[in-house]
Amino acid sequence: TVQNIKLNNGVLMPEIGLGTWKADEEGLLAKTIKKAVDLGYRHIDCAKIYGNQVEIGKALKEITVPRKELFITSKVWQNRHRPELVADALDEILKELQLEYLDLLLIHWPFAIKPDSNAMSPTPEELDNVPIMDTWKAMEALLGSGKVRAIGVSNFNKAILEKMIPQCHIVPAVNQVEIHPYNQSPELVKFCQEKGIAVTGYCPLGGTKISVMNDDFIKRVADAHSCTPAQVALSWALSRGIIVIPKSTNELRLKQNLEKVTLTSDEKRMFAKIGKHERKVDPGRDSKELEWVFHEDKAKCPVI
Ligand code: A2P
Repeated sequence: TVQNIKLNNGVLMPEIGLGTWKADEEGLLAKTIKKAVDLGYRHIDCAKIYGNQVEIGKALKEITVPRKELFITSKVWQNRHRPELVADALDEILKELQLEYLDLLLIHWPFAIKPDSNAMSPTPEELDNVPIMDTWKAMEALLGSGKVRAIGVSNFNKAILEKMIPQCHIVPAVNQVEIHPYNQSPELVKFCQEKGIAVTGYCPLGGTKISVMNDDFIKRVADAHSCTPAQVALSWALSRGIIVIPKSTNELRLKQNLEKVTLTSDEKRMFAKIGKHERKVDPGRDSKELEWVFHEDKAKCPVI
């Protein structure tokens, strides 16, 4: 069975979950979720912007595992950052997923876009000047509603968190960021964990473009443990206390991704050597205005 990580408010979160980004081929996602739950997955990572929550909601209705045994995460999209829109954003998500509550609600990105925009790569005109602390205070206000058990953030760098934390009534329970062997973010992970913010790693296998699973070192470690490179990459993240949300639509790989191996301390140490800054997702690649997003430099981050 999958182990839990205890969040800073006592809520238990399974350390392995199923990612659902881009799993949007008609019918395939519902099938995958049912298969995953049969195999023992209890944690499903969703987001409004993935555009597939209605299908996920239908699949969740058809499984027999009690709601309280599931851990469902979703994320507020950037066009709902204005504080007066945050509660509606949660209601929209709950309606799509046909749920009464979420286990975890995250702010998807640390910057806002205008309420009528839905862009994944916003133009400068589409950006909305909403201070992140205003959005966060609206998130804090949701906790009393019974509609969400924990709140957190996603794609937040250390500089923003450092500025936010002293002003928070409730420290984020989770920061979900891109983590895989080619984007290890040691400083950010250490900082979050020291502050009691659990780290979830998205794209833990590097997705389809980053060739983590072809890495020679990872392949050697996999051979030594008679397992696959994917299992090595996931086990490495788990050994750092990071929650992982790999996605697969294949039953064998779904099953494989639940099976941890124990890496030696030498192997873990050597992982640091293959680290680089190879990101799949970076809004700063297309936009000068957003270069600060993955910059850990305080001076580069907008004032809260
Ligand atoms: P598939 O659905 O055919 O298994 P990430 O979670 O890092 O975004 O990576 C997802 C990609 O990795 C998907 O293309 C998925 O393809 C593939 N994948 C998932 N699990 C494994 C595995 N155990 N071995 C190899 N590829 C995997």
